[in-house]
Amino acid sequence: MFFPEYRPRRLRRTEALRRMIRETVLRPDDLILPLFAIGGRNVRNPIPSMPGHYQLSIDQLTGLAAEAWDAGVPALILFGLPDRKDDRGTEAYRDDGIVQQAVAAVKARVPDITIITDVCLCQYTDHGHCGVVENGEIANDATLELLAETALSHARAGADMVAPSDMMDGRVAAIRRALDDNGFSQLPIMAYSAKYCSAFYGPFRQAADSAPQFGDRRTYQMDPANSLEAVREVELDIAEGADIVMVKPALAYLDVIRRIREQVDLPLAAYNVSGEYSLIKAGAQLGWIDETRVMMETLTAIKRAGADMILTYFAIEAARTLQG
Ligand code: PBG
Repeated sequence: MFFPEYRPRRLRRTEALRRMIRETVLRPDDLILPLFAIGGRNVRNPIPSMPGHYQLSIDQLTGLAAEAWDAGVPALILFGLPDRKDDRGTEAYRDDGIVQQAVAAVKARVPDITIITDVCLCQYTDHGHCGVVENGEIANDATLELLAETALSHARAGADMVAPSDMMDGRVAAIRRALDDNGFSQLPIMAYSAKYCSAFYGPFRQAADSAPQFGDRRTYQMDPANSLEAVREVELDIAEGADIVMVKPALAYLDVIRRIREQVDLPLAAYNVSGEYSLIKAGAQLGWIDETRVMMETLTAIKRAGADMILTYFAIEAARTLQG
């Protein structure tokens, strides 16, 4: 095909033609909204680096869940801010913990929305690491039990899916076993499989009060320079029983999303993380970019790269834009 016989512009002339040859179509069904639950009543603490997002008491959070559902968003992922932290993250696996209460409340108010829970200890430990600390190191195997307990307590509260984000080795298997042994063999696991040690999580750590108090997460989260290792992580999680695998963050890792898409046939999620959201919001507030267009272009790019679903703080805005 050569010019002038082939003129690509012929098929770009009208909006109807462009719609006909469009390859990637974003839908509200592709979106998952993250929400932050905190104790109290009528609490709506703005998260300064994430305009439009709040730490929400449960009464407020259920309202947002209803808004998301009405906008066509099929799923939420819940994060909790406990009243109290300790060195073993006890509040993460209490049956009356903040996430467990939020799950039950959302279930009661918006029964059909899919409730996913983030399974990790970092919001619940006083040291801010995703696992228990032994001799100054993050102890892998000692953490597995606590993660399994956490997932199980979420399941008992009524969660529809659990999503381990800790990056301990073997956690998908540990959670799968705990769920199966306790009557939750139907509960799917969305594994944060290729989760990188990323500075793009900065705003989230402010939102969730989960920054590590010493060191960093490099001994458990992945080195941003690696992509073959992402394939190994994903294959391991699949072997351990993951139902959905995830690449996180999304934008700086579109090549990893594409690579995983080509290599495995499980549903693939990508997390459009807090820093990716904040940058767009900041650019828009400065008047430097068109927020709605950049948002839609970004989400479409993540889907085009190969993601089947996108966890994004833009979920409600994007769903509303799509519904016109
Ligand atoms: C908890 C967790 C993090 C995110 C999701 N789950 C933070 C981290 O690993 O430090 C990041 C989400 C975001 O930045 O939007 N382990």
